[in-house]
Amino acid sequence: MRLVIGISGASGVIYGIRALEILKKLGAETHLILTEAARETIRLETDRNVAQVEGLSTEVHKIGDITSSLASGSYRTDGMAVIPCSMKTLSGVASGYADNLLLRAAEVTLKERRRLVLVARETPLTLIDLENMVTASRAGAIILPAMPAFYQRPKTINDIVDQVTGKTLDLLGVEHGIPTEWKGPNASKRRGKA
Ligand SMILES: Cc1cc2nc3c(=O)[nH]c(=O)nc-3n(C[C@H](O)[C@H](O)[C@H](O)COP(=O)(O)O)c2cc1C
Repeated sequence: MRLVIGISGASGVIYGIRALEILKKLGAETHLILTEAARETIRLETDRNVAQVEGLSTEVHKIGDITSSLASGSYRTDGMAVIPCSMKTLSGVASGYADNLLLRAAEVTLKERRRLVLVARETPLTLIDLENMVTASRAGAIILPAMPAFYQRPKTINDIVDQVTGKTLDLLGVEHGIPTEWKGPNASKRRGKA
C-alpha cells in the first residue's frame, strides 16, 4: 500500500506521527510531506525532533519540491491523509491554491478521484472554515475533524490519539487492528467499568 501523509501546522501533530508509526509497523509505503509550520509544531508539542518523524516514513518530500513524484497524478497512490489539517491548509485545498507540495499532492489526490482525508483541527470554527469544509467535501475530500470518540473507554492520551488516527486509517482502507468499531453496549460492558 502506498499512502501520502501530509502533516500541517495545526495542533495535534501527534496524530500524524502515530499514523506514520502504525503504517511503518504494517510495512506500508509512506510518502511524507511536512509544512514549515508542522516542523515548528513538532518541536513545540512533542518530544520528537523533525528527523525522527521523517525517519518513520519511506520517503520524505520537501514542501517546496514541486518536481516531486507526488505532484503528478501519473504517480499512483492509494490515497492521502492530511493529519492534522490546519485551517490554512484546508483553505488551500478548498480553493485549489496549490502553492506547496502538500497542497499539490492533495489536489492531485482529488483530481485522480483517490481518497483524501482531512483531519481538520481548530476550535471554534469561523464561517470561512465551515464553508471551506463544505467546498472540500463537495470536491470529494473526507472531512474528519480531530474529535475523539469515548465509547472505547480510553485510559490514556495514547488511546485517544489512536482513536482519531485509527479512524483516519480506516477511511484509507488500512487494516490496523486498533479498536475503532462500536460493537454495541454488551461489548462495552464486557470491557469493564469506566
Ligand atoms: C502550537 C500551535 C498550534 C496551532 N494549532 C492550530 C490549529 O489547531 N489549527 C489551525 O488551523 N492552526 C493552528 N496553528 C496555526 C498554524 O500553524 C498556522 O496557521 C500556519 O500558518 C499553518 O500553516 P500550514 O497549513 O502550512 O501548516 C497553530 C500554531 C501553533 C504554533
